[in-house]
Amino acid sequence: MSIGSFSYRVVRNLESRLQGTAAGKLGVAGYRVIRNLRVRSRRRRLTREYGRSALPLIRFGALFGSEPFRLSHYTFAPWSTSPIEHALIQGLARRLKPCHFLEIGSLRGELLANLNGLVESSISLSLAKEDMVKRGYPKAVVDTNLLYENEVKNLSVIYADSREYDFSKLPPPPRNLVFIDGDHAYEIVRHDTRNVLNFCARESVIVWHDYSLGDHMTVNWPVFAGILDGLPSTAWNRLYHVNNTACAVLLPESWSVRVHEDPFRPETTFSISISENPKGSCETSTVPSGAGGSESVVF
Ligand SMILES: C[S@@+](CC[C@H](N)C(=O)[O-])C[C@H]1O[C@@H](n2cnc3c(N)ncnc32)[C@H](O)[C@@H]1O
Repeated sequence: MSIGSFSYRVVRNLESRLQGTAAGKLGVAGYRVIRNLRVRSRRRRLTREYGRSALPLIRFGALFGSEPFRLSHYTFAPWSTSPIEHALIQGLARRLKPCHFLEIGSLRGELLANLNGLVESSISLSLAKEDMVKRGYPKAVVDTNLLYENEVKNLSVIYADSREYDFSKLPPPPRNLVFIDGDHAYEIVRHDTRNVLNFCARESVIVWHDYSLGDHMTVNWPVFAGILDGLPSTAWNRLYHVNNTACAVLLPESWSVRVHEDPFRPETTFSISISENPKGSCETSTVPSGAGGSESVVF
């Protein structure tokens, strides 16, 4: 463990212990200032080393053509990835076929359920309810954790904190499509990226959510810095920002892409139809599930 990630964990621990007290609030405010300064200096260094201040923007359509996408499980509830981001993952799964998918951070499991029939197997590596409670997630988010678990075909769920998990223990075969969407702090994105890279298949695609903010134009620096520092610089030329999404992707060398000039210039016109899934029960349990770790950290 690096000194940076050790101090990060100590501070996060203190933060959760002192939560609510005046000392805690002061400590958190001070820590945020220091963190912002560190992000700024990291940003300066990476902009210099990478040679640009944002990833090249590429066209969604050039990756997938005009094949339609269908989502069977979509709640429109907060924190879901957007429908077109689901389509991005589906399109990648189709291109990679056979596809063995790993998602870090699954929330309700919508993305996993929408991959039924498109992937051969899925693994979800996500916090257990107990861990989420300790980190102060809202009750409704905890209650609905992995809501769709039983509707996903060929799914293995690993209830764990990705910081603690030994990625060499991931069930075979090696993953060739990975969606990193767990903890979005710089240290964790870097950690998840390094681990995924070490254990994924030779020809694989990695997607990071929240590379940009929701406007698709403002770079989310903690995530971007985690991506760049998590990858060898030799892989940086395969990194792109996919238009219409907040996602960064690492694509195989052989895939061709088309640069898109500006997110404000629409690439194409989509048509969308929305209807209620007749089997879409959203009843939720309040009973904790999954074997959790024991750390107490608040995000
Ligand atoms: C933004 S949500 C993921 C949304 C989901 N990918 C989707 O497309 O619907 C973040 C998820 O990451 C999980 N998470 C946060 N920190 C984590 C960690 N260190 N290890 C594993 N999962 C984590 C949370 O429990 C939550 O389920």
